[in-house]
Amino acid sequence: MSPRQPLPPTGMRKNLANYGDAEFSVFLRKAFIKALGYTDDALERPIIGIVDTNSGYNACHSNIPDLIEAAKRGVLLAGGIPIPFPVISIQESFANPTSMYLRNLMAIDTEEMIRAQPMDAVILLGGCDKTVPALLMGAASANVPAIMLVTGPMLAGSWRGERVGACTDCRRFWGRYRTGDLSEGQINEVNGELAPTIGTCGVMGTASTMALAAEAMGMMLPGGATIPAVMAERRRLAEQTGARAVAMAGEKLTPDQIMTPAAFKNALRIILAAGGSTNALIHLTAVAGRMGIGIDLAGFDRMGRETPVLVDLKPTGQGYMEDLHRAGGLTAIMRELGNMLDFECPTVTGRTLGQNIAGMAPAWPQEVIKPTASPVYPAGAMAVLRGNLAPNGALIKQAAARQSLLQHKGRAVVFDTLADLAARIDSEDLDVQAEDILVLRNAGPKGAPGMPEAGYIPIPRKLLRAGVTDMVRISDARMSGTAFGTIVLHISPEAADGGPLALVHNGDMITLDTAGRRIDVDVSAAELQSRQIALPTRPATTRRGYEKIYFETVTQAERGCDFDFCIPEITQYIP
Ligand code: FES
Repeated sequence: MSPRQPLPPTGMRKNLANYGDAEFSVFLRKAFIKALGYTDDALERPIIGIVDTNSGYNACHSNIPDLIEAAKRGVLLAGGIPIPFPVISIQESFANPTSMYLRNLMAIDTEEMIRAQPMDAVILLGGCDKTVPALLMGAASANVPAIMLVTGPMLAGSWRGERVGACTDCRRFWGRYRTGDLSEGQINEVNGELAPTIGTCGVMGTASTMALAAEAMGMMLPGGATIPAVMAERRRLAEQTGARAVAMAGEKLTPDQIMTPAAFKNALRIILAAGGSTNALIHLTAVAGRMGIGIDLAGFDRMGRETPVLVDLKPTGQGYMEDLHRAGGLTAIMRELGNMLDFECPTVTGRTLGQNIAGMAPAWPQEVIKPTASPVYPAGAMAVLRGNLAPNGALIKQAAARQSLLQHKGRAVVFDTLADLAARIDSEDLDVQAEDILVLRNAGPKGAPGMPEAGYIPIPRKLLRAGVTDMVRISDARMSGTAFGTIVLHISPEAADGGPLALVHNGDMITLDTAGRRIDVDVSAAELQSRQIALPTRPATTRRGYEKIYFETVTQAERGCDFDFCIPEITQYIP
């Protein structure tokens, strides 16, 4: 008979600081934590870590102190010990050069803090665009029982009788201000109404899309994605999340049991049906990559062709997240999608997705989630393009585009960098017409760096004044999930990484063939090759610290822009 294996350590005995004497490590650890007033009895309980991503710079996370209090109450009621701990916080408009540049840093911070400290389960508390994917990426790699709790969307504001909200309306009103349609006083009034409460952006932007994706994957309690940040219901959910985390610790319900290929397929289906953010595809690719799961772009495109957009929220439709919540939230979307989803997937509740839905309130009449028979958009919220401009793929959110521009041929008007764009886009001398295609390059993961949300290239002012509201725009950048227009994004490889976007000249003819899933420049392969040879070599750059790690290891969009050394071998592909 083989000797009995010792049980893996739990609670305070987990993840000991290494002094070469485990018992001394426990002794020392207890000495310090007792300084906080804990008794030996308390320290025998399961420990639930709570990732605290609050920051004075992050209004999207400002309810985190309240949510932590509620989650702690739930943990204590269930017999555990809650221990909040910080990781970095990223808010979209307070991150230079971009929040995307820092997402992987936050993922590594999260992974290592979960690994380094004693915890039997962890509550992932975030909300703003990059924080949910970063927390899921870190938790996927650490593979400790984990449950997601988002801060929740803000409420909509009102300007002179019109409902407004960040950030689709930020762009819409800014466009009106640029044309002179709004005065400085009026745009300042709007500015005060766009984010009228704390919480994440109130439209179907990246934060909302990732919250729905996390719930659809089974990583969040049912109903958790859409409850507004300021509602008591969100605090009650936080308490329930705390209690459930204690149970998950006992069940050893780890992320690899929940974030399966089928769960990612469900999440992809939901971002399509919600008319969700293009950014969510990059983030889900990154989270799946941490589990050794690859997302096949051709498969995602096929999925898009059969998935109608059902949710009538800005930027694709009209409503705000509070409307989606009152209409039944994710549960109502999933009921409408029916057998397009896999309801056998396990979730953080310990039950399957289908069992969770069966336990929710019955559906009621509402106008926000359309039936599959009369959707907001018939199919393919997003389409994956390829062609001689995007050998490894590009993305267009066709549901938020002007339909007449989805098949279009036009003359290229090229901007070499973001600085070039800023310098020339509103120049009266710019040679541009409404039928042209605006091209922005060197705005990808390495080019900008950090793949800014610059794909929503502004319409040149002189065309705006002439009444032009949309043009075909292409780039290696990303686009805010809250933006709209006929915009091709994520062109891969990016210009700064040897991609053919670097070879486009002003005046080249570009064809966008969304139906055929192509984006091509009408230039021969031989000419492109000679342009490649003629490209000036980039000056050598000295880098240090995080910037050096970032530039040397960040991957392209189709691999989720994660660091290559964080991605294990990909052994399965979905869909
Ligand atoms: Fe935080 Fe939009 S800026 S969610």
